[in-house]
Amino acid sequence: VNPDTPSGLKLGFNPVAKHLNDVVTVPAGYTATVLYRLGDPIASDVAAYRNDGSDDARTYEYRAGDHHDGMTFFGIDAAGKWHPSASDRGLLVMNHEAITPIFLHPTGQTTEGSGTQARRSSADEVLREFYLHGVSVIEVSKNASGQWSYDQASLFNRRVHTLTEMKLSGPVAGTDHVRTKYSPNGAYTRGTVNNCANGTTPWGTYLTCEENWAGYFRLVNKDGHGARELASFGRYGVNGAGRELWATVADEDLYNRWNAEVRGASATQDYRNGPFTYGWVVEIDPFNPNSTPKKRTALGRFGHEGAALGPVEAGKPLVWYMGDDSRSEYLYKFVSDAVWDPADIGKGTAAGDKYMDKGRLYVARFNEDGSGEWLHLTLANAAISGYAGYTFADEADVYINARFAADALGATKMDRPEWTSINPNTGDVYLTLTNSNASHRPVDGTNAANPRSYNDPKDGKDQKGNPNGHIVRFADTGKNPAATSFQWDVYLFGARSTAPENVNISALSDANDFSSPDGLWFSEANPGLLWLETDDGAYTDVTNCMLLAALPGEVGDGSAATITNSDGEKSAQQATFVGKQPGDEGLRRFLVGPLGCELTGIAESGDGRALFVNIQHPGEDTADADIGDPSQFQSHWPDGGNSRPRSATLVITRDDGGPVGL
Ligand code: FEO
Ligand code: CA
Ligand code: CA
Ligand code: CA
Repeated sequence: VNPDTPSGLKLGFNPVAKHLNDVVTVPAGYTATVLYRLGDPIASDVAAYRNDGSDDARTYEYRAGDHHDGMTFFGIDAAGKWHPSASDRGLLVMNHEAITPIFLHPTGQTTEGSGTQARRSSADEVLREFYLHGVSVIEVSKNASGQWSYDQASLFNRRVHTLTEMKLSGPVAGTDHVRTKYSPNGAYTRGTVNNCANGTTPWGTYLTCEENWAGYFRLVNKDGHGARELASFGRYGVNGAGRELWATVADEDLYNRWNAEVRGASATQDYRNGPFTYGWVVEIDPFNPNSTPKKRTALGRFGHEGAALGPVEAGKPLVWYMGDDSRSEYLYKFVSDAVWDPADIGKGTAAGDKYMDKGRLYVARFNEDGSGEWLHLTLANAAISGYAGYTFADEADVYINARFAADALGATKMDRPEWTSINPNTGDVYLTLTNSNASHRPVDGTNAANPRSYNDPKDGKDQKGNPNGHIVRFADTGKNPAATSFQWDVYLFGARSTAPENVNISALSDANDFSSPDGLWFSEANPGLLWLETDDGAYTDVTNCMLLAALPGEVGDGSAATITNSDGEKSAQQATFVGKQPGDEGLRRFLVGPLGCELTGIAESGDGRALFVNIQHPGEDTADADIGDPSQFQSHWPDGGNSRPRSATLVITRDDGGPVGL
């Protein structure tokens, strides 16, 4: 225990060096083991993955998906029930955000289009891709010698994917906006896609968040759509060919449901409303493999990164904080109408119907004086009902077009809001702002909460805007998560340690410099310990993406500051509020991943002695032309040799069995 750190904790490992090798490195005294890779079977009669594109498409419903992302460990006690502190056995539930098509099919080469979007050539290959998105539920356990593995035959194992039936729940369910050929009364939709970060509920279910779903829909011919729908498609990015063959490879609902063009005589004869059934937070009960996931429309529709559960107290509302990860988008929170009753633990998605279908959806405004406000998204607000930029059809439309409602209220445009997490010791909420570019964050277009715009050259090329990202944190007034105001500061700025002082504001060193923070998660077993993951393209001339451990202070532990911004052509000053510099004692690099990967997804066993992290898309910068020559792949991790790279879950333990990171 260290009396000098705010949490009393001490980081108990030596920092890992930056590198550009095709390996995972962890500190001395730790072991990282591959637990669950792309294609690994999750039913007893499914063969091992051949990883050459020849596995039968129909087997993919029982294999790990691609691009492992957000993840939760649900401990299981001796009675077979969820127990948050259970440490030897549990369900590991994780998202499979996207795919790297060139590594999924026999040759990867087709005559269709160009680039990684155009690798598929048949309905079977598209079906494979449908299954490779979504969520895995797998049972994992630790054996007597302390080694973790997943149980291929567990009856809990399940894949949720783009074919799984989902119930729409909350204010948008059953409205005209979501009627489709699949569900003429708008009660259901099929599938979830681009599941990025995650969240939990206090009753023991998993939340998966639909992020870059808009790009999957085809909308080449816009004829027949109304002005409102077209405005919405424009605001959310539904436009163009979508995923090439997804919508067109076969003339069956299974495929052409990705076509948002008007083709039938009415909305119940085609999928013109398909995009309105995506962009939601989805609740899954991992303990009931036959349960139908529910899309929680009261939490709003946008590019959902994650949904972090706020402090939980009996008799108080429940709160989830949610980023919309796109440049110049917003931070939201949902406050339930119902107050928490611990008797609802174990009730599955029926509890979700109580807490997640009715409440207030807010968007954040960060003021220049260090205060902030939560603005209520409702048609009752004249700024929304009278908004000149979009005419809302009804209250349901405010949830569907939450971005327009937030525009109407003058919310603060942020540098790509990614994960949120709550420090259990202070109640402060942390938000990663991964990065932005010069057109969205020019030198003369900063604000106090997004205060940096500069040029950080990489390989001699300009990188302007906020290429390295930062982390904002805030405290809801009176430590009441339902409050409508808050105080904020900037906890940390990403930067090269060699960057000038006006860029490396947090004084990062060789032991902890990083760029583009994305995954962010406070340990529950070791309160005060923060894990930070990067999804970076700006500092990758020096290092692969990484995982860091931190012991942060609290909102207001630093001071007011003025940043001098300059992109080499223009310069300007921006006043802001900067947290205390972390030093090597307060922030330290713990892991560096293989080539081309992003670090994302993090969870721990109930005792904090096993840490699970995901390596996403190793080798993703492999050139299209090299698919026929495996020796040229950027990465061969984790299987080595000339193998195709695979996204995978790692389990990390300390060789002496102690808590990870301390
Ligand atoms: Fe899927 Fe915002 O990362
Ligand atoms: Ca992310
Ligand atoms: Ca990211
Ligand atoms: Ca990613």
